[in-house]
Amino acid sequence: MSVRRPTEHGISVARSERLVEALQGLVQRLRPQAVVETGTYLGLGTTRLILEATADAPPEVFYTIEASPVHYADAVANLLHAPHVHCLWGLSVDRCAAEAFIRDDALLREPAARGELFIDSDTPVEAYLAEVGGAGGTGQAVEIIPEAWLERLLPRLREKRPLIALDSAGGIGWLEYREVRRLMGEAVFGLFLDDINHVKHHRSFVHLRSDPAIELLAHDETAGWAVALHAAAGRTWS
Ligand SMILES: C[S@@+](CC[C@H](N)C(=O)[O-])C[C@H]1O[C@@H](n2cnc3c(N)ncnc32)[C@H](O)[C@@H]1O
Repeated sequence: MSVRRPTEHGISVARSERLVEALQGLVQRLRPQAVVETGTYLGLGTTRLILEATADAPPEVFYTIEASPVHYADAVANLLHAPHVHCLWGLSVDRCAAEAFIRDDALLREPAARGELFIDSDTPVEAYLAEVGGAGGTGQAVEIIPEAWLERLLPRLREKRPLIALDSAGGIGWLEYREVRRLMGEAVFGLFLDDINHVKHHRSFVHLRSDPAIELLAHDETAGWAVALHAAAGRTWS
């Protein structure tokens, strides 16, 4: 098992020129009128990179979702300079579905099943259950938490060619990716995945690579990110 190595960026995505250029390339192709991000954390990692990549053509709406009330409050303060960014407190997905997924997932329960993939903890089931309970920053899960934000947002935004960035709990990346695919169906959207070398999005990355409807624009398996475009079936897309 490979536990994730701590980096100078902590749990935030590491900024690189190549990643910024990949996001800018996606924005030029997609011209998104909406951004939906999961896993805001402090709003200083993926959120900031997306703001940088969309600076010349800001989307009409930008939603970013964070489970921990403590991180959410910090992100609101850190993003005051970008008033079009709406921070949402709560879970991207249904809480019961997330908890059931974490309890059942062989990659989390069995070290042999995940091989060399990175993971955040030696006790991942407990750690990810706490994280989707909003315990980030305090260690204390929250009893009542808003949930299923993706299901509330994406049906309303699916015609806006949304850029969807997935970077929430390591234990539910694959669940979140499948939820996005279910909700977006054949619509056009961009995808920014962080942690493709981690239990979080390894399966999402394998799936998108095998999907002819998805064009992989750029990726870095060492840094752990991928940027891709889902084109509508039967439509040409420049
Ligand atoms: C890896 S960090 C995100 C890092 C951030 N994107 C960055 O680059 O700085 C994951 C964050 O997702 C939050 N989180 C966990 N499960 C979530 C969920 N289901 N929905 C929304 N946020 C979630 C955690 O509290 C944590 O702050």
